[in-house]
Amino acid sequence: MSDPFRRAARIASVELSEILQISEAATAMKKAGHDVISLGTGEPDFPTPLPVIESAYQAALAGETTYTATAGTAPLRQAIAADCERANGYRPELAEIIVCTGAKQVIFNALFATLETDDEVILGAPYWTSYPDMIGVCGGKPVVIATTAADGFAITADQLRAAITPRTRWLLLNSPGNPSGAVYSSAQLEALAEVLRENSHVGIIADEIYQHICYVPFTSFRAVAPDLADRTLIVNGVSKSYAMTGWRIGWGIAPKRLIDAMIAVQGQITSGASSVSQAAALSALTGDQQMLAERCDDFRARRDMVREALNATGLIKCSSADGAFYLFPDCTATFGKTAPDGTRIEKDADFCAALLKSEGVALVPGRAFGVPGHFRLSYAYSRASLTEACARIARFCTTLA
Ligand SMILES: Cc1ncc(COP(=O)(O)O)c(C=O)c1O
Repeated sequence: MSDPFRRAARIASVELSEILQISEAATAMKKAGHDVISLGTGEPDFPTPLPVIESAYQAALAGETTYTATAGTAPLRQAIAADCERANGYRPELAEIIVCTGAKQVIFNALFATLETDDEVILGAPYWTSYPDMIGVCGGKPVVIATTAADGFAITADQLRAAITPRTRWLLLNSPGNPSGAVYSSAQLEALAEVLRENSHVGIIADEIYQHICYVPFTSFRAVAPDLADRTLIVNGVSKSYAMTGWRIGWGIAPKRLIDAMIAVQGQITSGASSVSQAAALSALTGDQQMLAERCDDFRARRDMVREALNATGLIKCSSADGAFYLFPDCTATFGKTAPDGTRIEKDADFCAALLKSEGVALVPGRAFGVPGHFRLSYAYSRASLTEACARIARFCTTLA
């Protein structure tokens, strides 16, 4: 008899992400009494600003506890438009903005609203692990372009041109990037825009969720190519910048015809983002913005500290990462060596597993992001944890024979 709970074909290949698997393994080790430092997840360690929490509380007391407009409250969308003008130099109309339950849902809504079976979405590897799964769930095919540390983990115009086919629907760009930390310069974005001008059937999703965690000048794709605004979706949100991952507020900025299609999807999935969280996001966008630069400086100092420590091991090669709060170092120099417990390191997953077992440091293997031979380290942790983790990684490297 067939199982009524059998998985639908569209989600057959979607498994628990490797990031969650690592964090569950680390949690299990902690519970068993081991001293584990997990640098696996992508969340700022700062608290949500107190005035934001206070505003949410006041909003709930004032009765903002009912459904909102599916696209988001007008005050929040106005604040998003003003924030976009302040940060990026262009101001979208309210009808060009949708508020969703996190930036993740912005991307999902757009893919779900537009992809037909086997439509192609181009993205660069290393990629955020959710992208290929989201594309697959929506019936599309991820077309992955390999990028290298030497190229700054950025897709080049030639690579993009070669990857475009008549079935291409979207180019999915992420800058600053997770897991690479790579930031596209305006010249690099302009070169990609030039290719897109030659291919009017391709839309652009620019995931700019790490915009405010960026150590070089940031450029929004839409600011570089305003002439392509008619087929550009900008993704942003409060999760990373304002340390509000749990509030689940992200937004999309796109032409009204795409926003309307995304509203149609969202209306049948969540009816809209949480009213109280929208009040919190409004407070974040209209409150103290100085905090963004202060937190960014703090992340930068932590990046420098960790990068230096990793490179000092001599076995880990850590190129520069200009934004987000991740490093994506190369660990191939450890391949062929044997860990103290007898594990022979042949690949990134062996390196991460042996490190977790012998030193209790949890990292995510690069293969989860489409680029084996590396690992992702999030430095959004306390300096004490980072210092201790680096010491343990260094010790692990010295024990490899
Ligand atoms: C590149 C990228 N885009 C989007 C998201 C999702 O953001 P949110 O938590 O707002 O859904 C993440 C979260 O890790 C991310 O790394």
